[in-house]
Amino acid sequence: MRPNFYLHLHPPTIPAAQARWRYTLGAGGTAVFLAFVLLVTGALEMFFYIPTPGEAALSVQMLTYTVPFGGLLRNLHFWAAQWLLVVSAVHLVRVVFTGAYAPPRRFNYLLGLALFVLVILFDFTGYILRWDQGIQWALVVGTNLVKSIPLLGEAFYQILVGGAQIGAATLIRFYAWHVFGLTLLGAGVLFWHIFRVRRDGGIAIPPPALRTQRERIFHFELVRREIAAMVWVGSALLLVSIFVPAPIAPAITEITAAASETHAPWFFLWVQQMLQWGDPFLWGVLAPLVVLLALALIPYALPQPAPDELGRWFPKSNRMAQVLLAALVGLVILLTLLAIGSKV
Ligand code: HEM
Ligand code: HEM
Repeated sequence: MRPNFYLHLHPPTIPAAQARWRYTLGAGGTAVFLAFVLLVTGALEMFFYIPTPGEAALSVQMLTYTVPFGGLLRNLHFWAAQWLLVVSAVHLVRVVFTGAYAPPRRFNYLLGLALFVLVILFDFTGYILRWDQGIQWALVVGTNLVKSIPLLGEAFYQILVGGAQIGAATLIRFYAWHVFGLTLLGAGVLFWHIFRVRRDGGIAIPPPALRTQRERIFHFELVRREIAAMVWVGSALLLVSIFVPAPIAPAITEITAAASETHAPWFFLWVQQMLQWGDPFLWGVLAPLVVLLALALIPYALPQPAPDELGRWFPKSNRMAQVLLAALVGLVILLTLLAIGSKV
């Protein structure tokens, strides 16, 4: 048979230890499934969405209330996007808490981290596409953060918003990034990431000489598990999308940061909280970059997980990375809760 990408990902047999739910949580596969749902629903939304300031929010309302199954389509895109962010964060946590980034998987860890950043950018640009009064604060404050970068800030700002101030060009830029630029980049990095999973020898488990479990499962069993996960996640997504609508507020009339709903989307509430402490460049740009850098350095700067401890949760040799990640996640959750608390 001719080699192909599907067979590359599904060899005739794999060690059973590489396909345990309790080990991988199925999070990587679920993320791939959600990305596919987003591609399909996003492409369908393009037939109805109008990327101009006067019509964007109205076209989203038209889609939601007048197009047959339009509301469901939008809700599927919205919920899949929120879940993808959560599921890729869970996948990241599992990779670090199991030490699965150990060589030769260090580079793939970085590809995964790039995907994580892309998902955040997708979620932010998508949120802006709504162009309703709920997004104004995040749009004004978020783009002003770029302006706060010393020396290059003004140039970056103009490239981002498409001129000296926010206007029609801004919406077109965010739209082009969302449906074209990020999609192209995201698809490229995603293929590379899952290609590398197998190229690096499949899911991390101890090398053959140190393995205690010798069982293997067939290709068919792996595919059966993948389909089972898709059916469960797909059904849950459908149920939530039928009953819980994605938010939409009245269209923007005039761009101002002092809108009634002055808060960031949920995944940036932690940054919003830090912005209260003063300097926007320090707290809004540098601090999140330091968190990203700390994550990127985990496989390079900390002691390596021991090969015989791979394939299980919380290996002893990997304690430092576990503590560092737990501290970062705890901090982001705490800041998010503080932001929610100060709003109530
Ligand atoms: C990882 C992939 C993606 C994520 C995380 C994502 C996220 C989002 C989010 C959060 C929204 C706002 C939802 C709302 O409030 O209605 C949105 C809107 C939109 N997205 Fe995506 N998206 C992704 C991929 C795509 C792709 C591939 C396309 C097109 C090919 C697309 C097209 C659209 C369109 C047209 C809208 C505006 C309609 C609307 O707001 O409902 N998206 N996206
Ligand atoms: C949209 C985001 C992502 C997708 C679709 C994705 C997809 C996948 C898939 C399908 C696998 C194999 C199955 C599994 O381990 O569950 C995998 C493994 C892996 N991923 Fe991701 N991933 C994403 C984000 C990330 C992130 C944020 C990281 C870490 C920073 C990461 C690092 C890794 C590593 C190191 C492996 C190999 C794990 C091992 O050998 O045990 N990925 N990814």
